[in-house]
Amino acid sequence: SSKRYKEPFRPQFHFSPEKNWMNDPNGMVYYKGFYHLFYQYYPNDIVWGPMHWGHATSTDLIHWKHKNIALYPDKLGLIFSGSAVMDLNNSSGLGTKANPPMIAIFTYHNMDGEKKGKTNFQTQGLAYSLDEGDTWSKYKGNPILGNSGLKDFRDPKVFWNTETNLWNLVLVAGDHAQFYSSKNLITWIFESEFGKNHGAHGGVWECPDIFKLKVANSNEEKWVLLISINPGAPNGGSGTQYFIGNFDGKTFYTTQKETKWIDYGADNYAGVTYNDAPNDKRIFIGWMSNWLYARNTPTKNWRSAMTLPRELSLEKLGVNYILKSIPVEQLKKQMISEFSKEKIDITAKQTVTIKHNNLNQSEIKFKAQSKDLKLIFSNNANDSLVIHYDAKQKTFSIDRRHSGIVNFEENFGKKIHKTSTPNIVSETIDYRILLDWSSIEIFLNQGIYSFTEQIFPKKPYTVLHIQSNQDQEIKNITINKIKEIWKN
Ligand code: FRU
Repeated sequence: SSKRYKEPFRPQFHFSPEKNWMNDPNGMVYYKGFYHLFYQYYPNDIVWGPMHWGHATSTDLIHWKHKNIALYPDKLGLIFSGSAVMDLNNSSGLGTKANPPMIAIFTYHNMDGEKKGKTNFQTQGLAYSLDEGDTWSKYKGNPILGNSGLKDFRDPKVFWNTETNLWNLVLVAGDHAQFYSSKNLITWIFESEFGKNHGAHGGVWECPDIFKLKVANSNEEKWVLLISINPGAPNGGSGTQYFIGNFDGKTFYTTQKETKWIDYGADNYAGVTYNDAPNDKRIFIGWMSNWLYARNTPTKNWRSAMTLPRELSLEKLGVNYILKSIPVEQLKKQMISEFSKEKIDITAKQTVTIKHNNLNQSEIKFKAQSKDLKLIFSNNANDSLVIHYDAKQKTFSIDRRHSGIVNFEENFGKKIHKTSTPNIVSETIDYRILLDWSSIEIFLNQGIYSFTEQIFPKKPYTVLHIQSNQDQEIKNITINKIKEIWKN
């Protein structure tokens, strides 16, 4: 019902389940005009519990239709994260060429095995659908990939490799990723592992993804490996790192030394990308939360939302490859222009104030000089959210310590989240900020940096203060209202 979508903190333009608990996005695949989004779901409570796969579909990645639960736990275990493909040539034999199967490959988490202290309680299972994801059958020979004794062995991402004409699968095993290949999605051959000596290891590796992207303004192509880790992210708790390298269908190679993150905010986790998205686009969706406090956020009937769907691209700055992310272009249709000004002069140490009836359902865009800039969002309930580009230190920070309700968990409002931003090399900075009823997403310079955070203001922000310690010029500032997605 539409009333449900007006309750406190309910996202107005982000996907959230109608009720109860959600975590990772799963099984993202596009087929016959529909983007399928499955997700980790516990239908009986607003905290994590025995996992199912919830399901929703969309034709534009913005408006979603809730579908029936796709996968239920069975005697092999709970249904943890995984992916889905369209087996168009019926390589699995589970459908026909005329009606190819949609295939989900996921992790079975066996609670009994875990309780008994076994180490091999996570295995990989397969399910298929012959009606575009509406109803599912589990494969009789499950599990399709057994476990030789690794405690963490999960989150398979499957895709068709157009270079080798084989299926590939990447999954995580504690501190590394493993690559497999297959002709039929059922029998998998182990190829290699990656990561014991690469990247961040503050926590266990989860939810891998791998795909190829063109490097902007060149003929070069690179493979991108996404790995979520929990804990060990820059702001504490959960976060998603990436590696740029090459992949030959068997082994992933990289010379990358430094750790890179897809998002530098606190709340973008377990994100993966669509198989078969139209026009070769690489579309990413993350879970807009963090295991530090995911169970404690102050919502009543449901918990958590997904990030905006984002288009990923690669750019090379000097010798450095950067994975950029920006909201999908379909979002533009949701915008209603409410304010725009060609130029605002900011005088050092003076405040420019913009009032607006509800900044928590809006997009704010402008181009600033790459000088010091502070934006303070506030309301008449004493809440304020501060974002700050510090030109001298070259850092960008988000201060949500007083942004609204923060005391539901000790880490949520504990500190300012500060990121060093060496990749801001231009003389101007493009700011694009999207605020929903309980989130903020910030994109700098077309997604060279992105920051995603949850916020729980007691009332919508209605005032925006802009300040700088230098004279500043802001150009083409626009505030758009973003239409709610749950009406039609
Ligand atoms: C990541 C994760 C996955 C796992 C799922 C369980 O958030 O821990 O590794 O499959 O959640 O719900």
